[in-house]
Amino acid sequence: MASEVLGVHIEKKNDGVLQAIKYVRGKLELLDQRHLPHVSEYIDIPTAEAAWHAIKDMVVRGAPAIAIAAALALAAELVSSPPETPDAKSTGAYIVERLQYLVSSRPTAVNLGEAAKQLSEVTRTAADQPEASAQSVIDAFVVSAEQMLVDDVAANRAIGANGAEAIVKAATKKEKLRVMTHCNTGSLATAAYGTALGVIRSLHAAGKLETAIATETRPYNQGSRLTAYELVYEKIPAILVADSAAAAFGATRGVDAIVVGADRIAANGDTANKIGTYSLAIGAKYHGVPFFVAAPVTSIDLDIHSGAEIHIEQRDPKELTHANGGRGDPIAPAGIDVWNPSFDVTPADLIAGIITEKGVIYKADGATEFDIPAFLARV
Ligand code: MRU
Repeated sequence: MASEVLGVHIEKKNDGVLQAIKYVRGKLELLDQRHLPHVSEYIDIPTAEAAWHAIKDMVVRGAPAIAIAAALALAAELVSSPPETPDAKSTGAYIVERLQYLVSSRPTAVNLGEAAKQLSEVTRTAADQPEASAQSVIDAFVVSAEQMLVDDVAANRAIGANGAEAIVKAATKKEKLRVMTHCNTGSLATAAYGTALGVIRSLHAAGKLETAIATETRPYNQGSRLTAYELVYEKIPAILVADSAAAAFGATRGVDAIVVGADRIAANGDTANKIGTYSLAIGAKYHGVPFFVAAPVTSIDLDIHSGAEIHIEQRDPKELTHANGGRGDPIAPAGIDVWNPSFDVTPADLIAGIITEKGVIYKADGATEFDIPAFLARV
């Protein structure tokens, strides 16, 4: 199936959603998101090295998509050019080392580290089996990597349903809601459907969405280039605003709820997400607008208690000083110092609820932090 959006020829998957990751066993292709919405082109990713560069250079981005792309790239490499390791143990060690290398591509999102941890576990277990061979270890890895693609879609659909219900409950009792989002958390940031944008999709499907409001998400413009693109593509009513217009939009035209994604959620609920999320949450608090985070449980990092422990990635100053994510003409004078963190941390206190595929996590009455370990122990 194909479609024309913004004058661009785009392929559609059978279920009608944009597809960031195309995979059949032995072959991975990624939609090159650096050139959207003008050019839609898939790039072959035959090796872990190719995936490392694709992640670092933002061919693929979004916490879940990064993790899945890395896992599937290694799977494709292992199938199409298996290592010359002689036995199960050395093959397992090779895979674990490749996973560690992939984790070094982008530091803030926990999903990649978590995927690497799980896949390393699967690999070691396979290598420890009495009859294990190099091939059986590769097979175990490939099957688990492929399962991540399937699991992510299922998780996102559940997040969409849970989030739509939570937002309808929390927002003003209107027939249809205006819901703001930041960055891109849709099909392009996940295996399909999306997290925060999946919640917006679900609200739309339920007839509960008046309009989505997408912030442009400076400096890399994931909102205007990618989220606006997905919304136009899906024919979901939407308005694009500059980041700096978000508070004024809420104050003058009204926003019923805000829902954003997450790159890493600490045990107390502090959430790292795209730079600008924190400002939106502060504005939401001032205006009494419920502010939700939507993410799979793989975005939760129980090893850290609070957001203070999250390592925030700094990006190339050119993203600010040059147009088009650093690839265009200069838009700032040469020689200016630049601070360009990719993410910020929103304190748990500002978050109304964390929407996961296992349910919505709320704070106890009067609490300023979430007790995520207790929630996860219950579900
Ligand atoms: O730098 P990016 O584009 O990878 O940042 C993406 C975000 O911050 C998303 O909100 C987050 O990864 C969740 S995607 C479902």
